[in-house]
Amino acid sequence: MTQLPPNCRVLVYGASGHGKVVADILLASGIAVAGFVDDSLQGKPAEILGLKILGGGDWLAAQGKSSPVAAALGIGHNAARQKVARRCVNQGIELITAIHPSAVLAASARVAEGAVVMAAAVINPDAEVGTGAIVNTGAVIEHDCRVGEFAHLSPNASMGGCAQLGSLAWLGIGATIIHGVKVGSNTIVGAGAVVVRDIPDGVVAMGVPARIHRYLEMRENEV
Ligand SMILES: CC(C)(COP(=O)(O)OP(=O)(O)OC[C@H]1O[C@@H](n2cnc3c(N)ncnc32)[C@H](O)[C@@H]1OP(=O)(O)O)[C@@H](O)C(=O)NCCC(=O)NCCS
Repeated sequence: MTQLPPNCRVLVYGASGHGKVVADILLASGIAVAGFVDDSLQGKPAEILGLKILGGGDWLAAQGKSSPVAAALGIGHNAARQKVARRCVNQGIELITAIHPSAVLAASARVAEGAVVMAAAVINPDAEVGTGAIVNTGAVIEHDCRVGEFAHLSPNASMGGCAQLGSLAWLGIGATIIHGVKVGSNTIVGAGAVVVRDIPDGVVAMGVPARIHRYLEMRENEV
């Protein structure tokens, strides 16, 4: 978990179901959460876990000018999360790395800033998880894997040893990449798929074994 400066206010960027889980991770780690930040209040509840939505990105930037503020990324959509992270960094707002106390991380595993590791996830030796990536509930990342920036392993997804998940790629719930196999950047692997051969950038793949279902338009990965 990120070491925070004294008097630093901690916010979760993204008042969504995903953001709720991120807030819960921080609370379970003994970190006081001041509230949520979200750029749209439409359809949002007044409170989540008893915490209010305090403002949008402009509000957060203004807060950061007067006192130390840090943000955890509570946005599930990969490209949207990347956009918000870049904005925070440009405004001098620190990104928190949130790791649930029940996650098991090898001493030599590396998790970059702004990443979220949820309950019961396992990250084994020499695996690397990139900036802003999500390792969702119960996901398993075996030894020497590479998870790119702003990628997402959904709940119960798993990667065998030395497997790779490209930046902004999304491994669906319960999906598996077998050892040594690579999934490209911006690719979506459907729920329950088993990836047994390399999958290129920018496609949707699904099934057992996983096969390319369609090629993504770039705008589908944009905010
Ligand atoms: C693969 C996925 C991205 C959909 O891609 P899509 O290109 O929009 O595909 P569609 O929904 O149009 O479905 C096309 C066909 O594939 C089938 N299909 C969809 N997802 C599938 C999957 N994971 N495995 C096998 N078949 C699947 C559909 O039933 C449909 O079949 P049909 O043509 O016989 O009716 C989506 O179904 C999925 O699996 N998303 C992951 C969700 C997830 O893991 N959420 C966790 C959040 S933490």
